[in-house]
Amino acid sequence: MNIDTATEESQTTDTDQTAETATVTTSGESVEETRDAWTDYRVAGTPIMSAEDLNVYYGDDHALKDISMEIPEKSVTALIGPSGCGKSTYLRCLNRMNDRIKAARVEGSVEFDGQNIYQPGTNLVELRKRVGMVFQEPNPFPKSIRDNIAYGPRKHGEINRGLVARMLGRDEKDKEDELVERCLRQAALWDEVKDRLDDNALGLSGGQQQRLCIARALATDPEVLLMDEPASALDPIATSKIEDLIEELAEDYTVVVVTHNMQQAARISDQTAVFLTGGELVEYDDTEKIFENPESQRVEDYITGKFG
Ligand SMILES: Nc1ncnc2c1ncn2[C@@H]1O[C@H](COP(=O)(O)OP(=O)(O)OP(=O)(O)O)[C@@H](O)[C@H]1O
Ligand SMILES: [Mg+2]
Repeated sequence: MNIDTATEESQTTDTDQTAETATVTTSGESVEETRDAWTDYRVAGTPIMSAEDLNVYYGDDHALKDISMEIPEKSVTALIGPSGCGKSTYLRCLNRMNDRIKAARVEGSVEFDGQNIYQPGTNLVELRKRVGMVFQEPNPFPKSIRDNIAYGPRKHGEINRGLVARMLGRDEKDKEDELVERCLRQAALWDEVKDRLDDNALGLSGGQQQRLCIARALATDPEVLLMDEPASALDPIATSKIEDLIEELAEDYTVVVVTHNMQQAARISDQTAVFLTGGELVEYDDTEKIFENPESQRVEDYITGKFG
């Protein structure tokens, strides 16, 4: 790097300068140029996932623009930003859920475990086992609590159950019992449901259903859990249970969570990525830095509630 560039860079990263150059539109949103340095958050060690120049289009709409972002393992990464800025679109890129949307076209790459998940021949069933997803609305299957958890492992042949297995003397009820208990404990639901494992899951409360969905996602032994506003349909008590659970899960799993709730992002996440209108990643850094001293004026305006 020559000296001229270095001088220029040290000037452009000066925050006073940023504030001076930012002007305000009539809608109250600052106009500023996003700087690459604001999103260049390098994680310590090897990132578990790494998106590179990700672009997503729905037909002609360019929903996500040039996203490059590394996700550190065993921690909570929050994605925040106003409605329509591309948070769910980005989250879905991480386990190729956008493949299910006909109009969606994804360009760029996402590396997971040293492989680009967008390369031809990727085993999507395996990918989604390792990178699980929990949605905004709890969506248990209309089956028993036990069947919800055991569904994936039975389907993947990891647990033998049923008439044929019994006839062949290969019924693995004990193994299933263990799995069901482990997942329900991990999802902090065991004590509430241990006496009603064969009851229909739809009889659970919303907050319990959401914890069941988390337990179900854990049953396939994922490494990463993607959660799209997992608590937004829940009351404050159920929400706080989910928040505690997310923090606990991050000891063993990597959690990427979309939330509209700023306090929630600040409380539970280690790093925060701020997406703003137009599908742009504007700033990505330690959560404390984002909430206490963001580089971008627009991020500060968004966090302090001036728009969005
Ligand atoms: N299935 C789809 N078909 C067409 N356009 C879509 C589709 N899903 C999302 N979009 C568009 O892509 C953009 C980003 O949407 P996305 O759902 O990712 O935003 P979001 O940040 O998750 O918003 P919200 O906070 O409201 O959930 C929006 O303009 C949206 O209208
Ligand atoms: Mg969304």
